[in-house]
Formats: sequence, structure tokens, C-alpha cells
Amino acid sequence: MGRPRGRDVRRREGRGGPHLEAVCRAFDAYTRGLLGASLHAGSSLHYADARLPEIQTRLDPATGVRDFALHVPLPTSKVRALPVRAAAGESLLSVQDLRTDYPTRGGGVLHAVDGVSFDIRAGETVGLVGESGCGKSTLSRTLLRLVNPAGGRIVFDGTDIALLSEKALKPWRRRVQMVFQDPYASLNPRRSVFDILESVLKVHGVTEREERRNRIAAILERVGLPADAARRFPNEFSGGQRQRIGIARALVLRPSLVVLDEPVSALDVSVQAQILNLLVELKEDFGLSYLFISHDLSVVRYIADRVMVMNKGQIVETGSHRDIWDRPQHPYTRSLIAAVPGVEQRKAA
Ligand SMILES: Nc1ncnc2c1ncn2[C@@H]1O[C@H](COP(=O)(O)OP(=O)(O)O)[C@@H](O)[C@H]1O
Ligand SMILES: [Mg+2]
Repeated sequence: MGRPRGRDVRRREGRGGPHLEAVCRAFDAYTRGLLGASLHAGSSLHYADARLPEIQTRLDPATGVRDFALHVPLPTSKVRALPVRAAAGESLLSVQDLRTDYPTRGGGVLHAVDGVSFDIRAGETVGLVGESGCGKSTLSRTLLRLVNPAGGRIVFDGTDIALLSEKALKPWRRRVQMVFQDPYASLNPRRSVFDILESVLKVHGVTEREERRNRIAAILERVGLPADAARRFPNEFSGGQRQRIGIARALVLRPSLVVLDEPVSALDVSVQAQILNLLVELKEDFGLSYLFISHDLSVVRYIADRVMVMNKGQIVETGSHRDIWDRPQHPYTRSLIAAVPGVEQRKAA
């Protein structure tokens, strides 16, 4: 949280001449840390085996020089590689031939989601990758019934919610929550974090004030926010902390499925690692399933059990997190992988 960027390092520590050498050392350490903390083409880390390295800041009280070290957090809960909560093959979500259309300016129709079918098992993380504009957000918004489908089925825990009325959707809405790319845009700037979370609980029928307080305090602590976060306002937090608020808002309702639409795409690489590590822990603690959307193949490769590749509104390939990367079948998947920075070097090496 609030890790200084390289630039800040110079500004904070770079004033005195005698410290200059130490400053450069610290700067290099931070740069090295950044590289180590970021996911890249050559990294085959997977959440089931390891957490991502995070950068830790140390301040030497004698010299006042800040130093940086890579730190790999130990899992606080045991992570299972494959979901065991549901019987094998049991789907939490089953999407069949889902279609979402938008009217175009010329009076035509854009098939933004064009016949998509897939399942998510309880406890599973399914990754969804594809370049900008391929329909990832439209798919997630349709699953959440923020946009109405033009056709198809969205079977959640045995009920098709594709055509349910708003009233009938309400109990279901609590169970499927969303985390957005830009938490700031989705947090009301005029309300304290406590108010934001409390209104979510009120809407979903948590009538006891004491219970609301307890649940808010517990979830804020669990997502790693400071104790006084509840009475502060969204603009008082860093980007990573705001995403923690967004995650708290989704989880305070104790959902079963969380749809994360580019949740780390707007964050620095070092903060990305912290948030990804947190999401892995929370999934285990709360028994969640994730649909994790990203345009970044390396992120999805780390966090997902299975990966779906989307192109022009359709899922063109689905595979395990390893197979998609090592044995891509579809030409579009191969072109996505080839476009990841560092892939050519890796192959040449
Ligand atoms: N509200 C909307 N009205 C009309 N067209 C839209 C709307 N939202 C998205 N689109 C179009 O639908 C396609 C898919 O967009 P989107 O789902 O945002 O893709 P992604 O999230 O993969 O970048 C794009 O061509 C986009 O321009
Ligand atoms: Mg999008």
C-alpha cells in the first residue's frame, strides 16, 4: 500500500549530496523489485503453487535511506489447485448460447456477445482473455443482468436468471458480485467507506445495525485496509487501497461468484501483485468462484484454473492455464501469446 514509485524515491531521498550513492542503490533495488514483482512472459507461476513477490520498503533509521526488497508472502490458508467443494462436474454457473446485441448508428445490430457457452464450477477461477473490444465487459454485464441478453440461458445454481424480473433477481444479486477496473469511478466520492458498505448491506436486508457494523469492520480488516478506513472517503486512498474497498464492497454480501472485470489493469505492477495475492487468499477463505477478466495473458495465466479466449464476441478456445499457454490450438490464441512482450525473446533463448 502506498509504495513509493521510482520518481518519489529520488524526490524524498535525493536532496543531500552525501546520500546520492545510497539513493542510486535504493533506486536500483526498487527497479529490480519492480521487475521481480511483475508477471512477464517467462513467468510460469501459478496461484496454486506460490504467491507473487511483493515489494517491501525498509527505512534505515541511521541513514534515513529507503531500501527495497522483494518479499514473497506465505499463504495464510491452504490453497487447493482444483476445487473440491462441489462434486466433480457440478456447475455453479452454466451459460448457454448467450447473445447480447447493441444497436449501431446505421440502424444495424452489433452482436457484442455472439453465442457464448461455458460453465464455472464451484471454487473455480475461470479466466477470460481477449483484446479490447472483443466483448468481455459486455459478457460480464450481461451475466450480472446489467444489460439484458438477446437470447440464451444464464443458469446460476440451478435457476435460469436470463429472463427473471428485477424483483425476482434480488436474492440472486447478492450472490453474484462484481469488481470493476476503476474502483474510483464506481465509489461515491461524497460518502465514507462505512456509508458505501452499509448501504449495500441495507439494500440486501441486513437490518441489524450492530451486524452491519461488525461485518463492515471484519471485511475492511480482511482486505488489508487500516482500522480508520471506515470513516474516510474514497479520495483519501491510493489506487490499490481503492481496489481493496471495491473488493470489500463485493465481499461484504458474502457472494458465491465474483466477476472481476480487469481488476488490476489500472494498477502499478507492484500493487497488482498485492491485489492478486489478496484475491487468491480471499477466494480460499470465503469459498468463492471467480470469473477473472483481463486483456493481460500473464495475469490470467497466474490466477486462473481454466482460461477462455474471446474474439469478436465468441469464445474461440478454452483450456487449462497451462495448455492455453504451452499448446494453444486456435490461431487467435497464438497471435495473442505472440503479442505478449518478451515472448519472442523467451522462445529464442
Ligand atoms: N453500451 C454500448 N452501446 C453500443 N455498443 C457498445 C456498448 N458497449 C460496448 N459496445 C461495443 O461492443 C463491443 C464490445 O465492447 P466491450 O464489451 O466493452 O469489450 P471489451 O470489454 O472486451 O473491451 C465493442 O465493439 C464496443 O464498442
Ligand atoms: Mg472491457
